[in-house]
Amino acid sequence: MHIKQAISQQSGRITVSGWVYRERGSNSMRFLVLRDTDNVLQCVIKKDAVSEEVWERTQSLKVESSVTLSGELKPDERAPTGVELIVDNVLVVGDSNEFPITKDQSIEHLANNRHLWLRSRYMNAILKVRHECFAAFREYFIQKGFYEYHSPIFQATQAEGGSDLFAVKYFDSEVYLSQTWQLYAEAAIFSLENIFTISPTFRAENSKTSRHLTEFWMAEMEMAWSTFEDIQDHAEGVVKHVVSRVLERCEEELAVLEKDVSPLIAARDKPFVRITYDDALALIKKEGMDVPWGKDLRTQEEEYICQQFDVPVIVTNYPTEVKAFYMKEVPGRPDVVQGCDVLVSGVGEIIGGSQREEDIEKIKERLVRDGEDPADYEMYLDTRRYGSVPHGGFGLGMERIVAWVCGLDSVKDAIAFPRTPLRFKP
Ligand code: 4AD
Ligand code: MG
Repeated sequence: MHIKQAISQQSGRITVSGWVYRERGSNSMRFLVLRDTDNVLQCVIKKDAVSEEVWERTQSLKVESSVTLSGELKPDERAPTGVELIVDNVLVVGDSNEFPITKDQSIEHLANNRHLWLRSRYMNAILKVRHECFAAFREYFIQKGFYEYHSPIFQATQAEGGSDLFAVKYFDSEVYLSQTWQLYAEAAIFSLENIFTISPTFRAENSKTSRHLTEFWMAEMEMAWSTFEDIQDHAEGVVKHVVSRVLERCEEELAVLEKDVSPLIAARDKPFVRITYDDALALIKKEGMDVPWGKDLRTQEEEYICQQFDVPVIVTNYPTEVKAFYMKEVPGRPDVVQGCDVLVSGVGEIIGGSQREEDIEKIKERLVRDGEDPADYEMYLDTRRYGSVPHGGFGLGMERIVAWVCGLDSVKDAIAFPRTPLRFKP
């Protein structure tokens, strides 16, 4: 049985399996703390209460040995989880070498031993919250009638800027690892209309920040017949749904992470703030941060904006020149586009989305602006040639939302094996 079940049972004969979390002992007694995926259990083995053979087996136990223990469960106030197991049988399933991770180790040592560090209560809690975030994203869009749809990872063109593409040899050609599903999603809405995905995504961004990975998971949606407001409403709706599922199911994990849940409760219960880029500039100007119109917002400016409110902020209508070629111009304002970013305090941008440009000539002009040859985008341009409709979508960085929900300093801890410019092992 699992320790969780043993704890709720409080007494009686049980058999539990797990790993030795701590151990100490004397000539006549051994204390073990056993851990499994959910919890820890204090166990005591008395020499004169077990056979000589069983006692002999306990002598080889080390931290991380895997064992199956049987015995009598007793309530005990001093035990960390309120019960103690009086062991009468021990089966050593797997011996352990001296475990290389002990207390207070450097970040570098933990990163080099990431495969072992995953066993920590810290990583265990994050990985469980991550699971709920993925489940919540899927659940939200399935409930709204969206289809899960998959685009290729090997792609022939860029979609989010050519500078951070990973080129890979593809027999005698060169292709790129996906930066987004978007161009292939836009082709599919003409069949399925409303779709979503969660997919590995790759960006060769040589930025060593706490918010960038070279391989991350992006959750994306694309919607036919949408308005720009629909896109923002779904962005807000899915973030609320993620937060609400995590608050409902991850109380213990958030406690292990010592996360102050008040920003999550506010995000769940209150409407997000929506402001335009122009308003955002006016807001940060008050703080003496003078961003010239047309520049993208930087980390510290995004953080300042977030700190003015207690809920996530959706910034809309960014300058056309800083945004991707596919975003739709705001009617009557060709200098700004119907693009939106969802910003949260501590992490910055978690979602980027937009209403898509329908005018094929404008798309071609912007591709040229970006140094691209429109002839390479025939597949994409076809989506505007055969019954184009208003549509839009967004991408949510899963590691960024996990980092925000868990209150992590870096997105690197929001994924089991982070990939960054300097780290691709283990
Ligand atoms: O804002 P981005 O670049 O938008 C797109 O790729 C759109 N094509 C999505 C769409 O409309 N379907 O990326 C979306 C999100 C960002 O807001 C951020 O959360 C995350 O992806 N992201 C990263 N996360 C970790 N490491 C990186 N290097 C990231 N780059 C983007
Ligand atoms: Mg973006």
